[in-house]
Amino acid sequence: MTGPTPDTITVNGHRLWQSLMDLAEIGAYDDERTGLRGVDRLALTDADAAGRRQVIAWMEQAGLRVRIDRMGNIYGRREGTDPTAAPVLTGSHIDSVATAGAFDGCLGVLGGIEVVRILDERGISTRRPVEIGVFTEEEGVRFGTDMLGSAVAAGRLSPEYAHALTDRDGRTLGGELIRTGFHGPADVHLDPPYAYVECHIEQGPVLAENDVQVGVVTGVQGISWQEITIHGRAAHAGTTPTHLRADAGLAAARIGVHLRSMVDSGAYGELRATVGHLAVHPDLTNIVPARAELTVDLRNPDDARMARAEEDLTAFLRTLEDGTPGLTLATRRMAKTAYIPFDERLQKVIAQAADDHGLEHISLLSGAGHDAQEIAALCPTAMVFVRGEYDGISHNPREYSTPEACAHGVNVLATTLLRLATQ
Ligand code: GLV
Ligand code: MN
Ligand code: MN
Ligand code: MN
Repeated sequence: MTGPTPDTITVNGHRLWQSLMDLAEIGAYDDERTGLRGVDRLALTDADAAGRRQVIAWMEQAGLRVRIDRMGNIYGRREGTDPTAAPVLTGSHIDSVATAGAFDGCLGVLGGIEVVRILDERGISTRRPVEIGVFTEEEGVRFGTDMLGSAVAAGRLSPEYAHALTDRDGRTLGGELIRTGFHGPADVHLDPPYAYVECHIEQGPVLAENDVQVGVVTGVQGISWQEITIHGRAAHAGTTPTHLRADAGLAAARIGVHLRSMVDSGAYGELRATVGHLAVHPDLTNIVPARAELTVDLRNPDDARMARAEEDLTAFLRTLEDGTPGLTLATRRMAKTAYIPFDERLQKVIAQAADDHGLEHISLLSGAGHDAQEIAALCPTAMVFVRGEYDGISHNPREYSTPEACAHGVNVLATTLLRLATQ
């Protein structure tokens, strides 16, 4: 320690921004529809592996000791002065959806590295270690279960379950960990940290609507993912009378419409419902679809209403089956998480840090899923949200937060981590 511990920490916003832009070049693609440059870095693809190597290089340049566990989760550790003290953990993910921008997840990881750089430059040591976690397959879009790496680290899911998951081409997550060189030796079960604080873009419009830069996150709403497979009967489009059809495509369309009417009814509170994947087979103009596969993503901050929505969807699927001879429906659970409230004391520490940086803030619930909701099982956890532009659009190349907004969020993260690490 070269002097008294400063009360607030201001990071190098330019360097943070440069690292966000540099990482976004890995897996970059030109989006034909928007004309924008997007990011496609699905978990454990070659692009994700290249992104991981870049992040590890930055961690090592920042003097962090890096370890990789059997799930490919990466941790970079800056030691504290007390070897017995549990670390303060921050982090997020760098895997992306196929139509991503530069910020989702990356801000939390690169923000954490920027905090460590600033602590070093300012000659600040902390009692507790500061660790940065980079969690595998947060998005869940390649292997079908979201927040996967953090869920295994927190002990909610087993590594065996995770390793056996397959992508659409039948490749296993375990095999892809080995292929990319990220099946590490470290123990996958994370020792409880002292606290976990994650900085993430909001991915929604609330901060902009309230004209504030920073959000203190109160919790994450519940998420339910399932896959529905409908088996019908292939038949000639011109000759097969309507009453003789078992049309799997029509049933899939009805499910989509029914979900929307469930949402519109208001009977399930703040329910959101999305059919994000839909495929029909044999997928030809003049054949009644023999099979359809679709995914259903439900979100709800109220677990009881979520349960009722799931039950009512199941009942609707039975009605479809009973109403059409030759049609069968099967469901497969992909992922399910309950509403997770965040730690109130940590929320106050974050709000105080925002105040001390002169930033207006509001408290809000997260609409998106985050690694923080899994780590919350291990230790007091909370999140800092950063405002997005264009209604906070995300999972889209248009996703954008200004350099100033990113720096504000990471300043709040830095001051919060410093205060926790000196406790
Ligand atoms: C992941 O970003 C999710 O919330 O689905
Ligand atoms: Mn994310
Ligand atoms: Mn995401
Ligand atoms: Mn997410």
